[in-house]
Amino acid sequence: MTRWGQLLLLVALLGASACRYKNEEELEAPVAPATPFTLSYPYYFPVLDVPADNPLTVEGIALGRRLYYDSLLSTNGPHAGRSCSSCHFQSNSFTVPDPGRSVLPHVNLAWSRNFLWTGKVSGTLEDIMRFEVEEFFEVDVSVLQAHPEYPDLFRRAYGRSEITPELVAKALAQWFRRMVSAKSRFDGYLMHTEELSDDELDGMMVYLTEAGDCFHCHGLPMMTDNGFHNIGLDSVFTLADQGHFEVTGDPADLGAFKAPTLRNIALTAPYMHDGRFATLEEVVEHYSSGVKRSASLDPLMTKPGQVTTLQLSAARKAHLVAFLNTFTDTDFIGDTALASPF
Ligand code: HEC
Ligand code: HEC
Repeated sequence: MTRWGQLLLLVALLGASACRYKNEEELEAPVAPATPFTLSYPYYFPVLDVPADNPLTVEGIALGRRLYYDSLLSTNGPHAGRSCSSCHFQSNSFTVPDPGRSVLPHVNLAWSRNFLWTGKVSGTLEDIMRFEVEEFFEVDVSVLQAHPEYPDLFRRAYGRSEITPELVAKALAQWFRRMVSAKSRFDGYLMHTEELSDDELDGMMVYLTEAGDCFHCHGLPMMTDNGFHNIGLDSVFTLADQGHFEVTGDPADLGAFKAPTLRNIALTAPYMHDGRFATLEEVVEHYSSGVKRSASLDPLMTKPGQVTTLQLSAARKAHLVAFLNTFTDTDFIGDTALASPF
């Protein structure tokens, strides 16, 4: 192409993009910027890191909340007809009390960097939401685009009514940041507004010392270290029990799963990645007497010169369960701002 040819092409392209811009301006009446939202959480939580291109806003959170509770999000795809909330109930800290299915809770995930039991997705909430939207639900955005209200809700939250999977994921990420649980009795104890019973305090000592060692992987204040560990549930690993090994291919990760937060743990039975335990008593019994050895067993599960198990007395097991029950946040499950907007 000659220089003149190139110049003409450039002029034509600039003209076309200017026209396009003008058309869009005509279509989209200007909208007021979304209202900034300040998330409150206790001073003893880590400082929240929010991506600069997805600041929290009242409109963004409201949109994410609506999408979460709307079965329109999955008109086609493998989970057609479901909403996120159909497997994540607020009353159960956003899990389902369904034996044999272990749904991870939606609580304080704003502070999480590893997602899903195997850690298949890592990064920000925006990253996991893109996975949920594009791969898990295979969301058909044309359905939302054709809806009488969604285009305007997106425009109010993000300044544009053209709906993309990326914007759906961003709105959901804002909503997930809003799901903060920090008002359990244990939080009250940390804030000196609640007292714990002697039994609960003894359970706390089991949790926070080498007696139980729970704090290493479920440490304060998030009750998770955000890591992956093999806690000795099995000594041979079926395909479904390979865990983080599926992601890394490293034999040291065989049988290692995401350490879930223990906040609201009394509400999220059944327990473990495969839902094998129905009660907290069974979980504590596993740690006390059931740990199975394997090459990838987490070193924290063994004590030098000792058996792999904690061998807690019946009383201390009961106290530990009593302490775990203090992590229940009734404000969180009763908060109408977290309930369905429909
Ligand atoms: C059919 C039931 C079902 C539906 C519907 C569902 N989920 Fe889940 N969700 C699960 C299960 C089961 C897990 C644990 C799966 C795993 O880790 O492999 C999970 C895990 C998650 C996690 C990971 C949490 C963590 O701690 O790592 C997030 C985030 C999540 N879901 C968000 C969503 C969103 C957003 C939607 C709607 C787009 C949704 N889910 C719809 C069942 C469901
Ligand atoms: C070495 C790290 C580690 C230690 C120590 C540890 N946990 Fe865990 N915990 C995990 C991991 C990882 C899981 C998930 C395992 C799985 O599903 O395969 C888990 C799961 C749980 C669950 C079930 C969570 C759910 O949502 O299903 C409970 C309850 C629990 N642990 C309590 C405790 C208690 C109580 C202690 C102390 C006695 C303890 N943990 C010590 C890492 C640990």
